Amino acid sequence: MHVLMTGGGGQLGNAVEREFSSRSDVKVTVWTFPGIDITEPATVDRVADLAPDLVINAAAWTNVDAAEADPDATYATNTLGAKYLAEGSARCGAAMVQISTNEVFPGEPGVFYREYDQTAARSSIYARSKLAGERATAAMTSKLYIVRVAWLFGPGGNNFPTKIVGAADKNGVLRVVDDEFGNPTYAPDVAAALAELVQTGRYGIYHLVNDGYCSRFDWAREILQHSGRIHVPVTAVSSSEWRRPTQPPPHAVMVNQAGAALGIRLRPWQEAVAEYCGREFVAVP
Ligand SMILES: NC(=O)c1ccc[n+]([C@@H]2O[C@H](COP(=O)([O-])OP(=O)(O)OC[C@H]3O[C@@H](n4cnc5c(N)ncnc54)[C@H](OP(=O)(O)O)[C@@H]3O)[C@@H](O)[C@H]2O)c1
Repeated sequence: MHVLMTGGGGQLGNAVEREFSSRSDVKVTVWTFPGIDITEPATVDRVADLAPDLVINAAAWTNVDAAEADPDATYATNTLGAKYLAEGSARCGAAMVQISTNEVFPGEPGVFYREYDQTAARSSIYARSKLAGERATAAMTSKLYIVRVAWLFGPGGNNFPTKIVGAADKNGVLRVVDDEFGNPTYAPDVAAALAELVQTGRYGIYHLVNDGYCSRFDWAREILQHSGRIHVPVTAVSSSEWRRPTQPPPHAVMVNQAGAALGIRLRPWQEAVAEYCGREFVAVP
């Protein structure tokens, strides 16, 4: 199988490249920005000419706050770029994986979102551009897996665990919101689940998140524990005390029903955090 992957060097891209390259029956072509920019319309021809069997789009504009200041660039990457990849895939008969986000849901308190629940991306330009990316790819190809992930962390990423550990080491104390909930999700676990999913040929929407959910506050405590920093005091604050250009959906918690029905499940998020922190961070006395 020949896999074309975008987002090389990104957090999920790194994990996907590692996972698929480790398989002897898979050849992986990696597209890395800015060498290849998926916002160029020529992307359609580039994909069709390469004629892979599978395209995995792990490229995206992921700076949620910065997206508010540049909606054109955000939509160009997350919607138009995704559409071009799907158009090229359809032209050469390749299947496609479009990576999406929990932020396509409104995130109402107490609601747990399954794959075919009603979407409503209200929180940000980023969220709207990603939902538009789902629709644009689905309009171009039926050989499509839309895979929503959430709260990603993994090697090489500028992610919540690295920020928590960095702030703990710099400031010695932390303030973390306790009213935003999600599914911490380990990029290498997503990559392994993707490798299983694309073998099935069962196109559709999937929520490939680690099992369970938590608040940012709970997640921070788990990170501190497994990075050898449990002594760092953490104060819970509300989102209204933590002003940002965008406010994320408060409870965009997803349930993996469709993947689990095919036997594809990710381990509990706490186990993944323990593994990641044990590898990534040196404990401080
Ligand atoms: N991170 C999360 O918590 C999270 C949560 C839910 C869903 N997701 C989704 O998961 C996917 C992967 O996220 P991630 O955390 O791995 O993101 P990431 O680390 O920011 O990687 C995204 C990659 O896309 C590249 N890129 C940006 N614009 C491009 C363009 N025009 N053409 C080609 N490549 C371009 C980036 O290059 P540069 O770095 O050079 O800009 C980067 O390598 C995305 O679809 C994202 O929306 C992420």
